[in-house]
Amino acid sequence: MYSEKVMDHFKNPRNMGEIENASGVGTVGNAKCGDIMRMFLDIDDNGIIQDVKFKTFGCGAAVATSSMATELVKGKTIQEALEVTNKAVMEALDGLPPVKVHCSLLAEEAIHAALWDYAEKNGIKIDGLEKPKSDISEEEEDEEY
Ligand code: FES
Repeated sequence: MYSEKVMDHFKNPRNMGEIENASGVGTVGNAKCGDIMRMFLDIDDNGIIQDVKFKTFGCGAAVATSSMATELVKGKTIQEALEVTNKAVMEALDGLPPVKVHCSLLAEEAIHAALWDYAEKNGIKIDGLEKPKSDISEEEEDEEY
C-alpha cells in the first residue's frame, strides 16, 4: 500500500524535533482525523531556509510527508519553499494512497503557516502566500473515510 520511500521516511523521519527561537512556526491540524503538524523554520537574513524541523502528532503518512517536506525546503529560498506543494511532496515519496492525500496537504499548509508566522514577525509580505488555514479538513468535504 505504501511506497518504499514512504516507509523509509516513516521509520527514519528526517529533521524531527523543534528549533528554539525559530524564525517562523506553523501549526496546522485536521479536525476529522485529529492529526496535528508543526513546522519550525530558521530563515537567515538572505531569506534562505537554513534549518527546518517538524513535530507531527499523527498517522504514518503525515510523519512521512512532514519528513519529506522538510528535506524539500531545507536550503531553499522562501519563494522556492512556497512551490513545495503537497503534490511535490507526494511525488517525491512516489505517491500516497488516495485516502492519505490529506496528510500531504497538512505538510504544505504547515510550511505555509510557518512562513506566514515569519512574515508577520518581520512585518513583510511574501508574494503568493495566502493566510493558511489552521484546520485543513474544511476544504476536503468530499473526501471519504
Ligand atoms: Fe489525517 Fe494522516 S490520517 S493526517
